[in-house]
Amino acid sequence: MTAAAGKAPRDVNRGVAPVTYGQGERPPRGDYGRAGADYTCAQDHARYTEADHDTYRRLYARQLQQLPGLACDEFIAAVRQLGAPERIPRFDDISERLFRATGWQIACVPGLIPEESFFALLAARKFPVTDWIRKPEEFDYVVEPDVFHDLFGHVPLLFDPTFADYMQAYGAGGLKASRLDACELLARLYWYTVEFGLIATPKGLRAYGAGILSSTGELRYSITSAEPRRVAFDLQRLMRSRYRIDTYQATYFVIDSFKQLFDATAPDFTPVYESVRKTIAAAGEIEAGVVLPGERQFTP
Ligand code: PHE
Ligand code: CO
Repeated sequence: MTAAAGKAPRDVNRGVAPVTYGQGERPPRGDYGRAGADYTCAQDHARYTEADHDTYRRLYARQLQQLPGLACDEFIAAVRQLGAPERIPRFDDISERLFRATGWQIACVPGLIPEESFFALLAARKFPVTDWIRKPEEFDYVVEPDVFHDLFGHVPLLFDPTFADYMQAYGAGGLKASRLDACELLARLYWYTVEFGLIATPKGLRAYGAGILSSTGELRYSITSAEPRRVAFDLQRLMRSRYRIDTYQATYFVIDSFKQLFDATAPDFTPVYESVRKTIAAAGEIEAGVVLPGERQFTP
């Protein structure tokens, strides 16, 4: 998979690099010995130290106070479903509430998992959440997703019925993309929506992507900075677009609603992959930060 772990320049606080699945350059960090064939394991809640809980509490507090005016309403409404913000939650407690809301559950994993396993879990309405938390010295930046990124960034929107259905469809689409050798194109969709998506609301642009919502700096940057490009969601345009894993995004894609996202991605992607491949062969990929002639941009 393309989402290799990158080197982080140190000058800017970049929050979590939301690598979602796939192979990095380094061996993954978690203890995979305790995982089963589907890569899930039990959350060893007793193993968290007081320092671990304190890291979670401080990350949560810092992020929560930034949400108004920057995060979408659906996220803000659901974030409290994560439970008490002082300690790393028990995944089973969240799963119970989540299952009642949308039929999703949390699956504990030791870290990044192979993409096929990742897709299979999503298709079964199970969201893989890493159980370890970053070390205090990684407070502002951790290369691999940890429990804070996975829980705080991803789980609240799984309480939204439309977004929840989109995530399951993505998992099923991933299993198909594996057979069609199209995972690189599909990964761009995950990156630019699930991780870095923006949504246009009557009150202005808001973030719904987990990589933004769990990042201390990019949340404000993505909504208020004049630097990045913001273009309307367009599936084929998006699949032609490369992305950066080591800096704030240079381009964001903006949806109108989760319904629009779900409907635009519902058709069979087999001909879409074909068409995107042809366009790339003829006109090339689109670099991050590049806007096409005549393309409308959203301004902060
Ligand atoms: N419709 C897509 C396909 O046929 C599946 C999908 C849905 C992929 C939603 C991503 C997101 O492959
Ligand atoms: Co993520």
